Amino acid sequence: MKTAVISGTGLYTPPHKISNEELVTAFNAFVDRFNAENAAAIAAGEIEELQHSSAEFIEKASGVKSRFVMDKKGVLDPERLCPIIPERSNDNISVLAEIGIAAAKEAINNAGLTAQDIDGVIIAASNMQRPYPAMAIEIQNALGIDGFGFDMNVACSSATFGLQTACDIVRSGSAQRVLMVNPEICSGHLNFRDRDSHFIFGDVATAVIIESADTAKSDTQWEVLGTRLRTSFSNNIRNNFGFLNRCDENGIGKPDKLFVQEGRKVFKEVVPMVADLITGHLSDTGLDPAGLRRIWLHQANIHMNIMIAKKVFNRDIDSDTTPIILDEYANTSSAGSVIAFHKYSQDLKPGDTGLLCSFGAGYSAGSIILRRR
Ligand code: COA
Repeated sequence: MKTAVISGTGLYTPPHKISNEELVTAFNAFVDRFNAENAAAIAAGEIEELQHSSAEFIEKASGVKSRFVMDKKGVLDPERLCPIIPERSNDNISVLAEIGIAAAKEAINNAGLTAQDIDGVIIAASNMQRPYPAMAIEIQNALGIDGFGFDMNVACSSATFGLQTACDIVRSGSAQRVLMVNPEICSGHLNFRDRDSHFIFGDVATAVIIESADTAKSDTQWEVLGTRLRTSFSNNIRNNFGFLNRCDENGIGKPDKLFVQEGRKVFKEVVPMVADLITGHLSDTGLDPAGLRRIWLHQANIHMNIMIAKKVFNRDIDSDTTPIILDEYANTSSAGSVIAFHKYSQDLKPGDTGLLCSFGAGYSAGSIILRRR
Protein backbone atom coordinates (compact mmCIF):
# COMPACT_ATOMS: atom_id res chain seq x y z
CA MET A 1 0.00 0.00 0.00
CA LYS A 2 1.36 3.42 -0.96
CA THR A 3 1.42 6.44 1.36
CA ALA A 4 -0.88 9.30 0.31
CA VAL A 5 0.05 12.94 0.90
CA ILE A 6 -1.70 16.24 0.46
CA SER A 7 0.75 18.30 -1.58
CA GLY A 8 -1.19 21.42 -2.51
CA THR A 9 -4.40 23.34 -1.85
CA GLY A 10 -6.19 26.17 -3.63
CA LEU A 11 -8.93 28.65 -2.83
CA TYR A 12 -11.22 30.70 -5.04
CA THR A 13 -13.08 33.50 -3.26
CA PRO A 14 -15.94 35.16 -5.22
CA PRO A 15 -15.68 38.90 -5.86
CA HIS A 16 -18.78 40.05 -3.95
CA LYS A 17 -19.10 40.32 -0.18
CA ILE A 18 -22.34 40.81 1.78
CA SER A 19 -22.34 41.97 5.40
CA ASN A 20 -25.02 40.87 7.87
CA GLU A 21 -26.34 44.45 7.87
CA GLU A 22 -26.81 44.49 4.09
CA LEU A 23 -28.48 41.08 4.13
CA VAL A 24 -30.83 42.05 6.95
CA THR A 25 -31.78 45.37 5.30
CA ALA A 26 -32.88 43.49 2.15
CA PHE A 27 -34.68 40.78 4.14
CA ASN A 28 -36.52 43.31 6.31
CA ALA A 29 -37.63 45.29 3.23
CA PHE A 30 -39.06 42.03 1.85
CA VAL A 31 -40.82 41.38 5.17
CA ASP A 32 -42.34 44.89 5.28
CA ARG A 33 -43.58 44.56 1.73
CA PHE A 34 -45.03 41.09 2.37
CA ASN A 35 -46.80 42.22 5.54
CA ALA A 36 -48.21 45.35 3.83
CA GLU A 37 -49.45 43.37 0.83
CA ASN A 38 -51.06 40.77 3.09
CA ALA A 39 -52.29 43.13 5.82
CA ALA A 40 -55.95 42.05 5.54
CA ALA A 41 -55.17 38.32 5.59
CA ILE A 42 -52.78 38.82 8.51
CA ALA A 43 -55.43 40.80 10.44
CA ALA A 44 -57.94 38.00 9.73
CA GLY A 45 -55.47 35.44 11.08
CA GLU A 46 -55.23 33.64 7.72
CA ILE A 47 -51.54 34.36 7.18
CA GLU A 48 -48.83 34.69 9.78
CA GLU A 49 -47.08 38.05 9.95
CA LEU A 50 -43.39 37.78 9.04
CA GLN A 51 -40.78 38.95 11.59
CA HIS A 52 -37.71 41.11 10.98
CA SER A 53 -34.27 39.54 11.03
CA SER A 54 -31.41 41.08 13.01
CA ALA A 55 -27.67 41.38 12.33
CA GLU A 56 -26.96 41.15 16.08
CA PHE A 57 -28.86 37.85 16.33
CA ILE A 58 -27.02 36.40 13.35
CA GLU A 59 -23.57 37.15 14.70
CA LYS A 60 -24.42 36.00 18.21
CA ALA A 61 -26.19 32.77 17.17
CA SER A 62 -23.85 31.70 14.37
CA GLY A 63 -20.57 33.66 14.45
CA VAL A 64 -21.12 34.77 10.84
CA LYS A 65 -20.33 38.43 10.06
CA SER A 66 -20.28 38.33 6.26
CA ARG A 67 -20.25 35.99 3.29
CA PHE A 68 -18.88 35.96 -0.28
CA VAL A 69 -21.33 35.39 -3.13
CA MET A 70 -21.26 34.95 -6.89
CA ASP A 71 -24.02 37.54 -7.29
CA LYS A 72 -24.87 40.30 -4.85
CA LYS A 73 -27.56 42.21 -6.79
CA GLY A 74 -30.16 39.43 -6.89
CA VAL A 75 -29.57 38.38 -3.29
CA LEU A 76 -30.06 41.94 -2.01
CA ASP A 77 -33.05 42.80 -4.23
CA PRO A 78 -36.00 42.60 -1.78
CA GLU A 79 -38.33 41.64 -4.62
CA ARG A 80 -36.11 38.72 -5.57
CA LEU A 81 -33.83 37.57 -2.72
CA CYS A 82 -32.21 35.03 -5.00
CA PRO A 83 -28.89 35.20 -6.89
CA ILE A 84 -28.89 36.03 -10.59
CA ILE A 85 -26.60 33.43 -12.16
CA PRO A 86 -27.56 33.29 -15.84
CA GLU A 87 -27.75 29.89 -17.46
CA ARG A 88 -24.90 29.32 -19.91
CA SER A 89 -25.07 27.57 -23.26
CA ASN A 90 -23.68 24.03 -23.46
CA ASP A 91 -20.73 25.40 -25.43
CA ASN A 92 -19.55 27.48 -22.48
CA ILE A 93 -17.84 26.24 -19.34
CA SER A 94 -20.35 25.82 -16.50
CA VAL A 95 -20.04 28.22 -13.61
CA LEU A 96 -19.33 25.44 -11.10
CA ALA A 97 -16.49 24.08 -13.23
CA GLU A 98 -15.17 27.62 -13.74
CA ILE A 99 -14.75 28.41 -10.05
CA GLY A 100 -13.47 24.87 -9.44
CA ILE A 101 -10.77 25.42 -12.06
CA ALA A 102 -9.68 28.68 -10.39
CA ALA A 103 -9.09 26.81 -7.10
CA ALA A 104 -7.63 23.78 -8.92
CA LYS A 105 -4.99 25.85 -10.72
CA GLU A 106 -3.71 27.25 -7.42
CA ALA A 107 -3.62 23.77 -5.84
CA ILE A 108 -1.76 22.27 -8.83
CA ASN A 109 0.71 25.15 -8.76
CA ASN A 110 1.26 24.86 -5.00
CA ALA A 111 1.96 21.16 -5.44
CA GLY A 112 4.68 22.02 -7.97
CA LEU A 113 2.78 20.15 -10.69
CA THR A 114 1.14 20.83 -14.03
CA ALA A 115 -2.34 19.65 -15.02
CA GLN A 116 -0.73 16.97 -17.18
CA ASP A 117 0.62 15.34 -13.99
CA ILE A 118 -2.91 14.69 -12.68
CA ASP A 119 -4.63 11.33 -13.31
CA GLY A 120 -8.09 11.86 -11.86
CA VAL A 121 -10.51 14.62 -10.85
CA ILE A 122 -13.15 14.34 -8.13
CA ILE A 123 -15.69 17.07 -7.54
CA ALA A 124 -16.95 16.61 -4.00
CA ALA A 125 -19.63 19.18 -3.19
CA SER A 126 -23.18 19.56 -1.92
CA ASN A 127 -24.51 21.92 -4.55
CA MET A 128 -24.14 20.34 -7.97
CA GLN A 129 -25.49 22.39 -10.83
CA ARG A 130 -26.60 19.39 -12.93
CA PRO A 131 -26.63 15.59 -12.70
CA TYR A 132 -24.53 14.92 -15.82
CA PRO A 133 -22.16 15.11 -17.58
CA ALA A 134 -20.06 15.34 -14.42
CA MET A 135 -18.55 18.76 -13.74
CA ALA A 136 -15.38 16.86 -12.79
CA ILE A 137 -15.12 15.61 -16.38
CA GLU A 138 -15.65 19.17 -17.59
CA ILE A 139 -12.75 20.32 -15.40
CA GLN A 140 -10.65 17.37 -16.59
CA ASN A 141 -11.34 18.40 -20.18
CA ALA A 142 -10.69 22.12 -19.61
CA LEU A 143 -7.36 21.44 -17.88
CA GLY A 144 -6.28 18.81 -20.42
CA ILE A 145 -6.03 16.00 -17.87
CA ASP A 146 -5.61 12.48 -19.23
CA GLY A 147 -7.50 10.11 -16.92
CA PHE A 148 -10.92 10.12 -15.29
CA GLY A 149 -13.32 12.36 -13.38
CA PHE A 150 -16.50 11.94 -11.35
CA ASP A 151 -18.77 13.96 -9.06
CA MET A 152 -19.81 12.95 -5.56
CA ASN A 153 -22.08 14.56 -3.00
CA VAL A 154 -22.12 14.00 0.76
CA ALA A 155 -23.43 17.49 1.60
CA CYS A 156 -21.17 19.47 3.95
CA SER A 157 -18.99 16.37 4.46
CA SER A 158 -18.20 16.03 0.77
CA ALA A 159 -14.57 17.18 1.11
CA THR A 160 -13.52 14.58 3.68
CA PHE A 161 -15.39 11.85 1.78
CA GLY A 162 -13.66 13.10 -1.37
CA LEU A 163 -10.30 13.07 0.42
CA GLN A 164 -10.74 9.51 1.64
CA THR A 165 -11.81 8.41 -1.85
CA ALA A 166 -8.79 10.15 -3.41
CA CYS A 167 -6.45 8.67 -0.78
CA ASP A 168 -7.83 5.18 -1.41
CA ILE A 169 -7.27 5.62 -5.14
CA VAL A 170 -3.69 6.75 -4.57
CA ARG A 171 -2.92 4.20 -1.83
CA SER A 172 -4.15 1.32 -3.99
CA GLY A 173 -2.07 2.53 -6.93
CA SER A 174 -5.08 3.06 -9.27
CA ALA A 175 -3.81 6.60 -9.86
CA GLN A 176 -0.71 8.53 -8.88
CA ARG A 177 -2.29 11.98 -8.38
CA VAL A 178 -5.87 13.06 -7.81
CA LEU A 179 -7.32 16.57 -7.87
CA MET A 180 -10.24 16.90 -5.43
CA VAL A 181 -12.35 20.06 -5.93
CA ASN A 182 -15.14 21.58 -3.81
CA PRO A 183 -16.99 24.28 -5.75
CA GLU A 184 -19.84 25.42 -3.52
CA ILE A 185 -22.35 27.98 -4.80
CA CYS A 186 -24.41 27.66 -1.63
CA SER A 187 -26.38 30.86 -2.39
CA GLY A 188 -28.17 28.78 -5.02
CA HIS A 189 -29.74 26.43 -2.46
CA LEU A 190 -30.32 28.98 0.29
CA ASN A 191 -33.82 30.31 0.93
CA PHE A 192 -33.10 34.02 1.43
CA ARG A 193 -36.77 34.50 2.49
CA ASP A 194 -36.40 32.21 5.51
CA ARG A 195 -35.53 34.20 8.64
CA ASP A 196 -34.16 31.10 10.42
CA SER A 197 -31.52 30.32 7.81
CA HIS A 198 -31.13 33.21 5.31
CA PHE A 199 -27.76 34.17 6.81
CA ILE A 200 -26.10 30.78 6.97
CA PHE A 201 -24.25 30.16 3.70
CA GLY A 202 -21.69 31.70 1.34
CA ASP A 203 -20.04 30.78 -1.99
CA VAL A 204 -16.46 29.59 -2.52
CA ALA A 205 -14.35 26.88 -4.18
CA THR A 206 -11.45 24.89 -2.76
CA ALA A 207 -9.16 22.27 -4.26
CA VAL A 208 -6.71 19.70 -2.87
CA ILE A 209 -4.03 17.58 -4.55
CA ILE A 210 -3.61 14.07 -3.14
CA GLU A 211 -0.67 12.09 -4.45
CA SER A 212 1.62 9.22 -3.72
CA ALA A 213 4.46 10.14 -1.33
CA ASP A 214 7.06 8.44 -3.48
CA THR A 215 6.79 11.04 -6.23
CA ALA A 216 5.53 14.13 -4.37
CA LYS A 217 7.84 17.12 -4.79
CA SER A 218 5.96 19.98 -3.13
CA ASP A 219 7.77 21.97 -0.41
CA THR A 220 4.77 21.44 1.86
CA GLN A 221 3.48 17.90 2.20
CA TRP A 222 1.00 16.40 4.63
CA GLU A 223 1.09 12.65 5.11
CA VAL A 224 -2.40 11.22 5.51
CA LEU A 225 -2.09 9.11 8.67
CA GLY A 226 -5.67 7.94 8.55
CA THR A 227 -9.16 8.64 7.27
CA ARG A 228 -12.51 7.74 8.80
CA LEU A 229 -16.08 8.40 7.65
CA ARG A 230 -19.43 8.00 9.38
CA THR A 231 -23.06 8.52 8.41
CA SER A 232 -26.32 8.25 10.32
CA PHE A 233 -29.63 9.01 8.64
CA SER A 234 -31.46 12.18 9.68
CA ASN A 235 -34.12 14.42 8.14
CA ASN A 236 -32.99 17.42 10.20
CA ILE A 237 -31.02 18.92 7.31
CA ARG A 238 -32.73 18.34 4.03
CA ASN A 239 -33.15 19.65 0.49
CA ASN A 240 -35.81 17.93 -1.62
CA PHE A 241 -34.76 19.50 -4.90
CA GLY A 242 -34.56 16.98 -7.70
CA PHE A 243 -35.73 16.13 -11.18
CA LEU A 244 -38.74 14.18 -9.85
CA ASN A 245 -40.26 17.24 -8.23
CA ARG A 246 -39.26 20.20 -10.33
CA CYS A 247 -42.44 22.13 -9.60
CA ASP A 248 -45.88 21.89 -8.01
CA GLU A 249 -49.16 21.61 -9.92
CA ASN A 250 -48.92 25.32 -10.78
CA GLY A 251 -45.31 25.07 -11.90
CA ILE A 252 -44.04 26.95 -8.84
CA GLY A 253 -41.01 25.88 -6.80
CA LYS A 254 -41.70 25.02 -3.14
CA PRO A 255 -39.57 26.08 -0.14
CA ASP A 256 -38.56 22.50 0.68
CA LYS A 257 -36.73 22.40 -2.65
CA LEU A 258 -34.16 24.61 -0.94
CA PHE A 259 -32.11 24.11 2.22
CA VAL A 260 -34.19 23.48 5.37
CA GLN A 261 -33.03 22.42 8.79
CA GLU A 262 -33.96 21.93 12.43
CA GLY A 263 -30.99 23.97 13.60
CA ARG A 264 -31.31 23.23 17.31
CA LYS A 265 -31.59 19.46 16.77
CA VAL A 266 -28.66 19.53 14.36
CA PHE A 267 -26.58 21.30 16.97
CA LYS A 268 -27.50 18.84 19.73
CA GLU A 269 -27.10 15.67 17.70
CA VAL A 270 -24.11 16.45 15.49
CA VAL A 271 -21.72 17.81 18.16
CA PRO A 272 -21.43 14.48 20.07
CA MET A 273 -21.35 12.47 16.84
CA VAL A 274 -18.39 14.48 15.54
CA ALA A 275 -16.53 14.55 18.87
CA ASP A 276 -16.90 10.74 19.14
CA LEU A 277 -15.69 10.24 15.59
CA ILE A 278 -12.59 12.36 16.16
CA THR A 279 -11.63 10.92 19.56
CA GLY A 280 -12.26 7.34 18.37
CA HIS A 281 -10.26 7.89 15.20
CA LEU A 282 -7.33 9.43 17.12
CA SER A 283 -7.34 6.65 19.70
CA ASP A 284 -7.44 3.89 17.04
CA THR A 285 -4.52 5.59 15.28
CA GLY A 286 -2.55 5.59 18.55
CA LEU A 287 -2.66 9.38 18.93
CA ASP A 288 -3.41 11.42 22.03
CA PRO A 289 -5.64 14.49 21.40
CA ALA A 290 -3.20 16.49 23.55
CA GLY A 291 -0.57 15.91 20.86
CA LEU A 292 -2.72 17.42 18.13
CA ARG A 293 -1.37 20.77 17.03
CA ARG A 294 -4.51 21.97 15.22
CA ILE A 295 -7.97 20.92 14.04
CA TRP A 296 -9.51 22.34 10.88
CA LEU A 297 -13.24 21.93 11.43
CA HIS A 298 -16.20 22.33 9.13
CA GLN A 299 -17.42 25.90 9.53
CA ALA A 300 -21.15 25.81 10.27
CA ASN A 301 -21.60 27.55 13.59
CA ILE A 302 -19.05 29.07 15.97
CA HIS A 303 -20.64 27.49 19.05
CA MET A 304 -20.65 24.02 17.46
CA ASN A 305 -16.97 24.34 16.60
CA ILE A 306 -16.05 25.50 20.09
CA MET A 307 -18.01 22.65 21.69
CA ILE A 308 -16.51 20.00 19.41
CA ALA A 309 -12.98 21.32 19.97
CA LYS A 310 -13.49 21.46 23.75
CA LYS A 311 -14.70 17.86 23.77
CA VAL A 312 -11.71 16.72 21.71
CA PHE A 313 -9.03 18.61 23.65
CA ASN A 314 -10.80 18.46 27.02
CA ARG A 315 -9.80 22.07 27.73
CA ASP A 316 -10.55 25.61 26.59
CA ILE A 317 -9.42 26.20 23.02
CA ASP A 318 -8.22 29.20 21.03
CA SER A 319 -8.07 30.30 17.41
CA ASP A 320 -4.56 28.85 17.07
CA THR A 321 -5.83 25.35 17.87
CA THR A 322 -9.16 25.73 16.08
CA PRO A 323 -9.04 28.37 13.33
CA ILE A 324 -12.35 29.99 12.40
CA ILE A 325 -13.02 31.39 8.93
CA LEU A 326 -16.78 31.30 9.32
CA ASP A 327 -16.97 34.93 10.41
CA GLU A 328 -15.80 36.08 6.98
CA TYR A 329 -16.98 33.24 4.69
CA ALA A 330 -20.11 31.94 6.52
CA ASN A 331 -20.92 28.26 6.00
CA THR A 332 -19.46 27.22 2.65
CA SER A 333 -20.55 23.60 3.04
CA SER A 334 -17.87 21.08 2.07
CA ALA A 335 -15.25 23.78 1.46
CA GLY A 336 -15.20 25.21 5.02
CA SER A 337 -12.63 22.91 6.62
CA VAL A 338 -10.46 23.08 3.48
CA ILE A 339 -10.47 26.90 3.58
CA ALA A 340 -9.37 26.74 7.24
CA PHE A 341 -6.61 24.26 6.30
CA HIS A 342 -5.55 26.30 3.26
CA LYS A 343 -5.29 29.55 5.23
CA TYR A 344 -3.99 28.20 8.55
CA SER A 345 -1.55 25.34 8.07
CA GLN A 346 1.67 26.89 6.76
CA ASP A 347 3.00 27.73 10.24
CA LEU A 348 2.94 24.09 11.41
CA LYS A 349 6.34 22.39 11.55
CA PRO A 350 7.49 19.02 10.16
CA GLY A 351 6.21 16.35 12.54
CA ASP A 352 3.22 18.42 13.67
CA THR A 353 -0.08 16.58 13.56
CA GLY A 354 -3.46 18.08 12.65
CA LEU A 355 -6.96 16.86 11.89
CA LEU A 356 -9.36 18.00 9.19
CA CYS A 357 -13.00 17.28 9.93
CA SER A 358 -16.32 17.85 8.23
CA PHE A 359 -19.91 17.27 9.29
CA GLY A 360 -23.34 17.96 7.92
CA ALA A 361 -26.46 16.60 6.26
CA GLY A 362 -26.96 12.88 6.18
CA TYR A 363 -25.94 13.12 8.98
CA SER A 364 -22.39 12.67 7.78
CA ALA A 365 -18.96 13.29 9.28
CA GLY A 366 -15.40 12.67 8.19
CA SER A 367 -12.02 12.83 9.91
CA ILE A 368 -8.64 13.03 8.17
CA ILE A 369 -5.48 12.88 10.31
CA LEU A 370 -2.50 14.66 8.78
CA ARG A 371 1.18 14.96 9.72
CA ARG A 372 3.46 17.55 8.19
CA ARG A 373 6.42 15.89 6.47
N1 COA B 1 -33.12 37.33 13.40
C1 COA B 1 -33.58 37.54 14.64
N2 COA B 1 -34.09 36.56 15.43
C2 COA B 1 -34.14 35.32 14.92
C3 COA B 1 -33.68 35.03 13.63
C4 COA B 1 -33.16 36.09 12.86
N3 COA B 1 -32.68 35.89 11.62
N4 COA B 1 -33.84 33.70 13.40
C5 COA B 1 -34.39 33.19 14.50
N5 COA B 1 -34.57 34.16 15.43
C6 COA B 1 -35.16 34.05 16.76
C7 COA B 1 -36.18 32.93 16.82
O1 COA B 1 -37.44 33.38 16.43
C8 COA B 1 -36.13 32.56 18.29
O2 COA B 1 -36.90 33.48 19.02
P1 COA B 1 -37.76 33.01 20.33
O3 COA B 1 -36.71 32.55 21.30
O4 COA B 1 -38.48 34.26 20.72
O5 COA B 1 -38.63 31.89 19.83
C9 COA B 1 -34.67 32.79 18.68
O6 COA B 1 -34.14 33.68 17.69
C10 COA B 1 -33.84 31.53 18.70
O7 COA B 1 -34.06 30.82 17.47
P2 COA B 1 -33.34 29.47 17.13
O8 COA B 1 -33.67 29.04 15.74
O9 COA B 1 -33.61 28.48 18.21
O10 COA B 1 -31.82 29.96 17.15
P3 COA B 1 -30.51 29.17 17.50
O11 COA B 1 -29.89 29.76 18.70
O12 COA B 1 -30.70 27.69 17.47
O13 COA B 1 -29.55 29.54 16.25
C11 COA B 1 -28.80 28.54 14.21
C12 COA B 1 -29.95 29.21 14.94
C13 COA B 1 -29.28 28.06 12.85
C14 COA B 1 -27.67 29.55 14.02
C15 COA B 1 -28.26 27.35 15.05
O14 COA B 1 -29.32 26.52 15.46
C16 COA B 1 -27.27 26.48 14.30
O15 COA B 1 -26.28 26.94 13.78
N6 COA B 1 -27.48 25.16 14.32
C17 COA B 1 -26.61 24.24 13.61
C18 COA B 1 -26.81 24.44 12.17
C19 COA B 1 -25.84 23.68 11.34
O16 COA B 1 -24.70 23.56 11.63
N7 COA B 1 -26.32 23.16 10.25
C20 COA B 1 -25.47 22.39 9.44
C21 COA B 1 -25.56 22.86 8.07
S1 COA B 1 -24.23 22.09 7.30
